[in-house]
Amino acid sequence: MKLIAPSLLSADFSKLGEEIRAVEQAGADLLHVDIMDGHFVPNLTMGPPVVRSIRKISKLPLDCHLMIDNPMAYLEPFQKAGADWISVHVETCDLSQLLPAIQKLQCKAGAVLNPNTPISAIIPFLELADYLVIMTVEPGFGGQSLIPSALEKTAELKKILRQKKLEIPVQIDGGIKLDNFAAALRSQADIFVSGSGIFHTPDYHKTIQAMRAAILSFSAK
Ligand code: DX5
Ligand code: ZN
Repeated sequence: MKLIAPSLLSADFSKLGEEIRAVEQAGADLLHVDIMDGHFVPNLTMGPPVVRSIRKISKLPLDCHLMIDNPMAYLEPFQKAGADWISVHVETCDLSQLLPAIQKLQCKAGAVLNPNTPISAIIPFLELADYLVIMTVEPGFGGQSLIPSALEKTAELKKILRQKKLEIPVQIDGGIKLDNFAAALRSQADIFVSGSGIFHTPDYHKTIQAMRAAILSFSAK
């Protein structure tokens, strides 16, 4: 099962409701919400009040990507605001406590790796995670170019998961667009986060349907 997750970071915030409805009608599977604190990454975005507003207008699962220090302190506020999935960076703190704490809140728990963090950093936590995330750009900003080696890392992680007979979906996040979607699929990732690759195109429906068509033709091979 391959999923398409528009990242709201690249949406027009002056009409966020319309933007969300548009990607929902265009066939998005979940909404990726980038939470940044100005410490873990050099940028600030949104907090629980914005997530609460998004929750009110969409039925899609909300995938909150926490790029923040001390994520443990914010799990409950985001869950209460309506997060369904919560992902946390292995670089921030000990995931052996964080991931179960997310699941205890009835959310799916994701473990995220920065481009320069080796796969070995999440190996001890594989069994605790509901999904894994490979950053395909440095976290902090939308609109960056995909780092090709991150796709090789994704393929390597999928191989390790197969060897361990673990069926954990792998999300890739950053720089994914229609023009590199075939390469993204070849990495065997399962969930594709795309911000500017969707919101900076003139017709979201066309873009998401073209991604969907690429998924279908890849799966048929
Ligand atoms: C980067 C964020 C990504 C980003 C994706 O820090 O985690 O989710 O918004 O945006 P694009 O697709 O524009 O790289
Ligand atoms: Zn993200």
